[in-house]
Amino acid sequence: MSDRTFRLSEAGRANSIARVKALPLGIFDSGVGGLTVVRAVQALLPSEDILYLGDTARLPYGSKSPETIRQFADEDARFLVARGVKAIVVACNTATAHALAGLREHYQLPIIGVIEAGVDAALANPDAVRIGIIATRGTIRSHAYQHALALRRTGLVIHGQAAPLLVPLVEENWMDHPATLMVLQTYLEPLIDKGIDTLLLACTHYPLLIPGLRDLLPPDVRLVDSATTCAEHLKRELVRLNLLAPAGNDGKLEIHLTDLSEEFEGLARRFLTKPPGRIHLASLGC
Ligand code: DGL
Repeated sequence: MSDRTFRLSEAGRANSIARVKALPLGIFDSGVGGLTVVRAVQALLPSEDILYLGDTARLPYGSKSPETIRQFADEDARFLVARGVKAIVVACNTATAHALAGLREHYQLPIIGVIEAGVDAALANPDAVRIGIIATRGTIRSHAYQHALALRRTGLVIHGQAAPLLVPLVEENWMDHPATLMVLQTYLEPLIDKGIDTLLLACTHYPLLIPGLRDLLPPDVRLVDSATTCAEHLKRELVRLNLLAPAGNDGKLEIHLTDLSEEFEGLARRFLTKPPGRIHLASLGC
């Protein structure tokens, strides 16, 4: 290869790396829950553009069969890949539990889940021994958290509690409603009775319930969720692959939903530090 050809191909490679760095991150969940991860990513990586997909038309994922969850997750990932993202965050524990491995096999880009992050967050405290997990039925039944925790630390006492009513209540924006607090109490009581020292919020919707959870839990129970740790995992991967967006880029958020809902929009505006623009209707068939 001549010097000139070599210099041109070097320049071409640098150009295409710069193009990939400028692509948005793709983040998906069944609904508003993934916004808890979006907020953490915006806080840690403010220069990154984000393309968010909420599959609100088919929510909840947590009560579907593993096969259906895998199919939905695959369609979500395909939607994001088709729009050109540089990495995907599966901001849904249920989809992470059932579909992460398959997605990683299928798509040639970095794909980050939330379960490893949740486990890291829970075990960051060396005194965590009696761990309660609340999650969708699909996540609890997958045993993904129970296995991952037990592999990482011996002697843990782990109690999983499926909490299927919480996602619809959050999507309804009923975070402070007395009915929600009653449901929360019903789910928490068996875990509190077992003397847990840590409560792992293993569904990305649940951090939106933290004020209610805090009121109901004994003060010495540590509340843990995966959002911040997931953003840290994502950053580590982007740094490793030299894919961070150029510093100073004003990270934009574009939201696509498979069914538009006013509740989603209201919550996104209140919850996110940077308000999203117009929310788009997504069709997963294309
Ligand atoms: N936010 C999703 C999770 O983390 C689940 C919501 C649903 O059941 O659709 O598991």
